[in-house]
Amino acid sequence: MTNEVQKNSTPQTKTKLWLDVLIFVAFLVTMDPHSSGIAIHEWLSLAMIATLTIHLLLSWDWIVEISKRFLGKVGGQNRINYIVNWLLFIDGTMIMISGTMISEVVLPVMGIQFPADFAWRRLHDMSANIGLLLLGIHTALHWSWIVIAFNKYLIRPVVRWIPARQKEDASI
Ligand code: HEM
Ligand code: HEM
Repeated sequence: MTNEVQKNSTPQTKTKLWLDVLIFVAFLVTMDPHSSGIAIHEWLSLAMIATLTIHLLLSWDWIVEISKRFLGKVGGQNRINYIVNWLLFIDGTMIMISGTMISEVVLPVMGIQFPADFAWRRLHDMSANIGLLLLGIHTALHWSWIVIAFNKYLIRPVVRWIPARQKEDASI
């Protein structure tokens, strides 16, 4: 039986899956700065720039391909993905810039501090909330990929591992 991930499975699929899980969890932690503490909030979200860059590089061929064909022949789902991805990119840039402008830890460590500005704070809050919404849409659009990849790389290996362990234990 073939499915979406098996058909398109490359050595990168597993890397993509774990990287996506990592950035998803990191994003949820950054959405609640009062629980994590502001230092973790700022350093973790800046570290996310690196993981998001890898996320984009792993899909670089897709980005180049759809960019070339966007005004011509592109399937409906790819077109929607492309637009949502751009919105995510623009909103993510706004989150990072506004966050840097109100930074209470990272910038002071570097000896820089901007005067408190309510507008940057509002923009930061607003772009973070829009980011959560866009991430929900991005996740929904890739839902079948997520389910199939989880099944292939997490659930099935665990299900195979349990009876193997039971057999080993019984033979002792
Ligand atoms: C916040 C965390 C994010 C999560 C959890 C996430 C998750 C995913 C998943 C599950 C996929 C499908 C599998 C894959 O190719 O990796 C994907 C694809 C993709 N994502 Fe993300 N993503 C995130 C943020 C972003 C952002 C901010 C951008 C744009 C700047 C982006 C751009 C893309 C692109 C270009 C693709 C491949 C093309 C596509 O099918 O849409 N992602 N993402
Ligand atoms: C993925 C990236 C980020 C997300 C999702 C995010 C999200 C948020 C959210 C939801 C708040 C709470 C707003 C409120 O309570 O009104 C907040 C506050 C804040 N964020 Fe971010 N943020 C991100 C990146 C950054 C960065 C890069 C910096 C600085 C380097 C930063 C600095 C701050 C500061 C100083 C606050 C105010 C905390 C307080 O209440 O004292 N954020 N952020």
